[in-house]
Amino acid sequence: MPPLVQSLIRFYDSSIGKKILVALTGLAMIGFLIGHLLGNLLLFAGPEAINGYAKKLHDLGPALYLIRGGLLAIVVLHIVGTVQLVRLNRAARPQKYAVDTVRQASKASRIMIWSGLTILAFVVYHLAHFTWALGNSYRDPSIARYWASPGVHNVYNMVVDGFNVWWVSAFYIIALLLLSSHLSHGFASVFQTLGLATTRTRRPIQVLGMVFAWGWFFGNISIPLAVLFGLVS
Ligand code: HEM
Repeated sequence: MPPLVQSLIRFYDSSIGKKILVALTGLAMIGFLIGHLLGNLLLFAGPEAINGYAKKLHDLGPALYLIRGGLLAIVVLHIVGTVQLVRLNRAARPQKYAVDTVRQASKASRIMIWSGLTILAFVVYHLAHFTWALGNSYRDPSIARYWASPGVHNVYNMVVDGFNVWWVSAFYIIALLLLSSHLSHGFASVFQTLGLATTRTRRPIQVLGMVFAWGWFFGNISIPLAVLFGLVS
């Protein structure tokens, strides 16, 4: 095995190696979430804008599958790294907590695990809803409303019809709330792990994380709310 690969494996074996993997994959997912939100907000610019954007993505062809594969690998690595870290922490944890901060830290990470698992369930539901179109007719080639051009979805009509069902919108809003709580804590943790959080920068980083997470939350929920209130139809 080449020495570089050997040292990478040895590094990953350490707790900090796993933390860095979780931080970097988390950062990549934050990038995806920002991009996906900006793309979705094109809904407010009208059907041509968002359907044109969907067509551009569709036209990437094999590169799109490469991006999807990369995204999937990032999600899997993030989860595997987290599970291994939790195991390591459990193995190293003393029977009784000596100091309260340990208890606080593990409480925060427990919340991260539950919000993380909910996000995973949401992503599976979301893919089934729009991408695989299970239980709806978005992929039915005979329904012209769902096709902007042959083989390219009319994402505008899909999103409007999807969020016109109140309980679907309610489910999205709850999931997005949990996701932003995960993002807010995760954002600050990335800086901590990468050694960028000092006594001077810790508070501004936490504030930045909260501003980002809530901005992202309101940006996203504006879509189901606009549909439900008839602002987009
Ligand atoms: C209100 C919020 C959201 C809306 C309106 C939305 C909309 C969509 C739509 C319409 C598609 C399918 C596009 C197509 O088939 O052409 C899609 C795909 C996807 N969305 Fe979302 N989304 C939202 C939030 C999220 C969130 C929070 C996540 C991740 C946690 C996410 C992850 C994904 C993924 C992974 C795909 C599949 C991408 C692909 O097929 O390559 N979405 N989204």
